[in-house]
Amino acid sequence: MDAIQIAPAKRGDAPRLAGMSRRLIEAGLEACWTEERIERHRRHPDSVVLTARVAGSIGGFAIMQYGDDAAHLNLLAVEPVHQRRGIGRRLVGWLEDTARTAGVFRVRLEVRDTNLAAQRFYAALGYEPCGAVRGYYQTQEDALRFMRDLSVRDPRG
Ligand SMILES: CC(C)(COP(=O)(O)OP(=O)(O)OC[C@H]1O[C@@H](n2cnc3c(N)ncnc32)[C@H](O)[C@@H]1OP(=O)(O)O)[C@@H](O)C(=O)NCCC(=O)NCCS
Repeated sequence: MDAIQIAPAKRGDAPRLAGMSRRLIEAGLEACWTEERIERHRRHPDSVVLTARVAGSIGGFAIMQYGDDAAHLNLLAVEPVHQRRGIGRRLVGWLEDTARTAGVFRVRLEVRDTNLAAQRFYAALGYEPCGAVRGYYQTQEDALRFMRDLSVRDPRG
């Protein structure tokens, strides 16, 4: 199995990440995560754009924005061919460790209410549903909100 390398995105990665977002996260919606927006997050001191490289190519990525009280996971995607190999768990784990180091112990995120696979993924990582937002996605689709308290050790490890 190819080694997986987790590291902050490099200059020049944004077009590839925007394409993954359009295809894997924003399918059926107007694409909001343009390469310019992703590049802004990559350069912003309060955001991390993280990639997982498999044999040198980007197989997954995530974007987290760190606030004073909570961090917000904006985007997360793993190429279908690389799913169920622990890449999503490693990306989120890296970003959670960074939040703890920064003294931020709460992570929030929204997920499309039709995206049952992602909801199961977040539940497996210790995230709890904490509400719904009607029409969150361009008034077309509702979101479910999830939250994890990082100060509580997850009994699932
Ligand atoms: C959600 C997503 C990021 C998960 O990434 P992944 O690398 O496949 O996930 P992992 O291999 O780290 O899975 C960790 C655990 O989550 C759960 N899980 C992951 N995918 C699952 C699925 N499709 N169905 C049910 N449970 C799932 C499992 O418990 C899994 O552990 P296991 O494989 O040992 O059973 C990936 O499916 C994806 O990119 N989906 C499309 C984009 C998306 O929905 N992004 C999230 C919303 S922004």
